[in-house]
Amino acid sequence: MPRPHLFRALAVVVAWTLALLFLGSVVHATESSLACPDWPTCFGTMMPEMVGGVFWEHLHRLVAGGLILIFAGATWLAFREAGDRRWMTRASVAGVVLLLVQAVFGGLTVIYRLPDAVSTTHLALAFGFLALAVVLATAASPRRTTEPAPSPQVARVLRQWGGGAAALVFVQSVLGAVVRHTDSGMGCPDFPTCLGQWVPPMDTHFVAIHFTHRVVGVLATLAVVGLAVALVRAGAGPGLRRWAAGAVALVAAQFTLGVVSVLSILDVLPVSLHTLGAAALLALLVHLAARGHLTRADAPGGPGRTAAGPHVAGVA
Ligand code: HEM
Ligand code: HEM
Repeated sequence: MPRPHLFRALAVVVAWTLALLFLGSVVHATESSLACPDWPTCFGTMMPEMVGGVFWEHLHRLVAGGLILIFAGATWLAFREAGDRRWMTRASVAGVVLLLVQAVFGGLTVIYRLPDAVSTTHLALAFGFLALAVVLATAASPRRTTEPAPSPQVARVLRQWGGGAAALVFVQSVLGAVVRHTDSGMGCPDFPTCLGQWVPPMDTHFVAIHFTHRVVGVLATLAVVGLAVALVRAGAGPGLRRWAAGAVALVAAQFTLGVVSVLSILDVLPVSLHTLGAAALLALLVHLAARGHLTRADAPGGPGRTAAGPHVAGVA
């Protein structure tokens, strides 16, 4: 019987990362990003007075430190429990490296006083780490051995539609960070039109970036709805249908939060929930895409493979 410690540890990592992403977004939205003027210490100490912006900025750092420790523990468990699934130990080590690089990028945002490219990369790496943790958690889940494997048609839909929708949501999220860090959040102050027009004049980069984010938002929403429809048509079971319904509900909520962010003139709560919603949506889609890619050999207690990555259902 496979031991579920690794799965539990990875489930905590995913939940912790979502909380950390939300906190990171609050740091920016409350203009606390430079509340600690130095890094890795804050005013020369690891225990500054937790007031004002320092509360959010230092809390974000402490929670980030906690994530590194928990993920290091999960990596240790992966070496003990992953058996022949060596791609899992390699991916875990890559995750540790990614987190350390991410911490350095967090420090660079402070030291270089928030360059747009560094802040945007900080978000992209955070979302990349989340996706990696979700793939590992999906592979480690005991449900992979107890639930029936998806049929080849359903697995193909999960890979193609799920993978495509996840990629689009990732791109849209990085674009969202560009909107935020180039101060284009109010480039289109109205909704559903932009500056009173369906296609606004793109004469400033604020409008062009914001409008592109809206258009890709519509495409991402359609991709998620397309995934749900394709799963139903391929005959997916009730469990997968529930996940697909969850994805549709989440993308609708995410779209609405984007609209509320604009109409509230970038109020802290909707913009922070908008970051969290994007991350949760990405996690859900990556989970579905991973279920299309992982075979029984990748499941806990499965025979495992010696090749470099998880195996594609129906191909391996
Ligand atoms: C000790 C390490 C870290 C430091 C010093 C740090 C620092 C910061 C700072 C200063 C901001 C505000 C950036 C801005 O206003 O442009 C921020 C935002 C953020 N952080 Fe971190 N961070 C660290 C680790 C992490 C980790 C490990 C993650 C996730 C895995 C993460 C995820 C985020 C996210 C998602 C944001 C919001 C980015 C955005 O709004 O576009 N951070 N962080
Ligand atoms: C599936 C659809 C969408 C996704 C996945 C998405 C994702 C994101 C992400 C990840 C950010 C960056 C937050 C950060 O840096 O922390 C962002 C920013 C933003 N998004 Fe979206 N978004 C979507 C749709 C929309 C829509 C439809 C609107 C408006 C009608 C919108 C308006 C905004 C605005 C105004 C910002 C900048 C917030 C700020 O400056 O603080 N988004 N989006």
